[in-house]
Amino acid sequence: MIAFERAGKRYGGQTAVEDISLTIEAGEFFVVIGPSGSGKSTLLMMINRMVPHSAGSIRVGGQDILSFRPEMLRRRMGYVIQSVGLFPHWTVERNIGAVPELLDWPQARIRDRADELLALLNLDPGRFRSKYPHQLSGGEQQRVGVARALAARPDVLLMDEPFGALDPITRTALQQEIHRIHRESGTTVVFVTHDMDEALGLASRIAVLDRGRLVQLGTPLELLAAPANGLVRDLIGQEEHGLRMLAVQTVASRLRTGETAPGEPIAASATLRQALSRMVSESADRLGVSDAEGRPMGAIAMSDLLRR
Ligand SMILES: Nc1ncnc2c1ncn2[C@@H]1O[C@H](COP(=O)(O)OP(=O)(O)OP(=O)(O)O)[C@@H](O)[C@H]1O
Ligand SMILES: [Mg+2]
Repeated sequence: MIAFERAGKRYGGQTAVEDISLTIEAGEFFVVIGPSGSGKSTLLMMINRMVPHSAGSIRVGGQDILSFRPEMLRRRMGYVIQSVGLFPHWTVERNIGAVPELLDWPQARIRDRADELLALLNLDPGRFRSKYPHQLSGGEQQRVGVARALAARPDVLLMDEPFGALDPITRTALQQEIHRIHRESGTTVVFVTHDMDEALGLASRIAVLDRGRLVQLGTPLELLAAPANGLVRDLIGQEEHGLRMLAVQTVASRLRTGETAPGEPIAASATLRQALSRMVSESADRLGVSDAEGRPMGAIAMSDLLRR
């Protein structure tokens, strides 16, 4: 869907992004992580030509991005910027409808789409559609920013720290929303964060940037199991390493079929970290495991968590 080939960006004499080659598959949830100033926002904005690359090439859907008119490229891609960036003199509804309006959707369809998205992001349309950005909390503004990016059902969603500056509860709720939206829509998401837990929880693959260069590219489990260098090790953290390993694997991966355990079962889709938490809080060294419909599937034991 998106292919960087030896792509780079220099601002004057300074290199922001250097020699990046990578491919983002259609439907991926691709996370870019790295320290402040490592080039994450620049890399993201190179995709929709908000920032023109100065070296190499970038293709979207197989076509060089230089062959598109920049406006067309931007209309095809939803974009959530680091600072939300709602239009202050436009209502929530008009903000969400910005791209559909450019695409000449009929007004009634824009209104329906805005209401649908507000509901999807847990904002009551009746209460919110006519408000202005300054009448919203920071978290509500970020939700509207996400709704606006989704409005025209883009093939690609570019998100630059969309949940920064949110309290942990709102942040977790929005992470779950975007995870669900991604699963249901199949949109390709490129998501910038500097929060490793956010990256591990959402990503199909993670790219780690350091001073404009790609230092590692892999699945969450690959990064945790074999960090490429000291920076990746630092991002993962020593203290939380074991818990993070458990958090990126599911109960299903360690299921003992045909066995049972007393008590409330845990879902096969739960993480091993959640299983550990249940075992500790219930002083149980085994849990029953059930499928999405609550049917028993087997069991998981504490010792299963220690297997590599
Ligand atoms: N318009 C610009 N002109 C000159 N230099 C810039 C410009 N925008 C960014 N830079 C520089 O390019 C480098 C990468 O910046 P970028 O915004 O991509 O980093 P980032 O990883 O997104 O950081 P943060 O986590 O703080 O958002 C930085 O050194 C920054 O100072
Ligand atoms: Mg940035």
